[in-house]
Amino acid sequence: MAYVNENYLKLPGNYLFAEVARRVAAYRDEHPDADVIRLGIGDVTLPLPAVSIEAMHTAVDEMAKKETFRGYGPEQGYDFLIDAIIERNYTARGVTVEPDEVFVSDGSKSDCGNIQEIFSEDAIVAITDPVYPVYLDTNVMAGRTGKLGADGHFEGVVYLPSTEENGFAPALPDRRADMIYLCCPNNPTGTTLSRNELQKWVNYARENDAVILFDAAYAAYITEPYVPRSIYEIDGAREVAIEFRSFSKTAGFTGTRCGYTVIPKTVTAKAKDGSRHPLNALWSRRHSTKFNGTAYIVQRGAAAIYTDEGQRQVAANIAYYMENARIIREGLSALGLSVFGGVNAPYIWLKTPNNMPSWDFFDKLLREANVVGTPGAGFGPCGEGCFRLTAFGAREDTEKAIDRIRQRLDI
Ligand code: MLT
Repeated sequence: MAYVNENYLKLPGNYLFAEVARRVAAYRDEHPDADVIRLGIGDVTLPLPAVSIEAMHTAVDEMAKKETFRGYGPEQGYDFLIDAIIERNYTARGVTVEPDEVFVSDGSKSDCGNIQEIFSEDAIVAITDPVYPVYLDTNVMAGRTGKLGADGHFEGVVYLPSTEENGFAPALPDRRADMIYLCCPNNPTGTTLSRNELQKWVNYARENDAVILFDAAYAAYITEPYVPRSIYEIDGAREVAIEFRSFSKTAGFTGTRCGYTVIPKTVTAKAKDGSRHPLNALWSRRHSTKFNGTAYIVQRGAAAIYTDEGQRQVAANIAYYMENARIIREGLSALGLSVFGGVNAPYIWLKTPNNMPSWDFFDKLLREANVVGTPGAGFGPCGEGCFRLTAFGAREDTEKAIDRIRQRLDI
């Protein structure tokens, strides 16, 4: 008799963005002529940088010749990509990362979701609330969270409210936490944590033998110079932090798939017999067992963004999206809405008018303005009464969406 993993039965409904897509599809079936603007899932709309396209074309040609063809590559990633990542993203900011501390993957969603496998089943998970749903859902699947309570909280999870009231800087937990997920710049609030705030978390992790799982997928969108781009800019972080990075939002690889995880060899955790083990070795074992490497062609495309010309092209695309962010932020503020984010991140987080439940606001926006966003409640109980719009749309759609909200919604 095969039994199901009953932890899956604890998950409420669909994955957030699948549910958004399902509701939009249902609306479009009823209204086939509606001109729906999608500012829901954070999916890019600009094509890949020209340098990446050129590098991938060259790589395809290499695959066509016996002398240059490549089969399985190194599971951890090719040196040409790992070296370029370290030089541009770490050495240039005074941070030391060794080549065997970087693991190239098919994107940071997979890594953020899979990392929990190297921790014990009874490790206590802390997540900021609201936050990217992958951290919580994957720990529910792994049986680490207990049951879902009537208040929308899983009983075994330490929630760290991150709201307007605390300036989106969550307080340290009042009970034990072993795996602490931080997302900075934050998805969905678009806010960042200051150097002092990050130091507070690193100190906590060092004092409590905890590990920080730091999702920096949106680091390239930080515009304010004093905001850290990497957790490793913080003293002591190399002892307690794992960092996730992505080419998806940085370079338009949402459909192409490439990301990486950094695990310094100095990050360790205990076994039940008290012995300590580097998490780098555990992840390396997992990666080489369950993953056969990111496609060579894709890694060539990713590495191309680290040339000087690649950096210019990527910066131009990011500037385009951040101008969208400004249009949304200023447009909604002018309507009297409370708006956050959009300065160091491509997400704008708004309070729904009259504290309307966020799925109700989703329906209202879709029906009255034909604009899709993401309900805050989908990111955690503290997201209720809030709503997320992305800056990844085309410019004309972004402008049109704000015009429609201004003209059609009674706010
Ligand atoms: C989002 O909209 O939050 C992201 O696009 C989801 C993701 O990166 O997986």
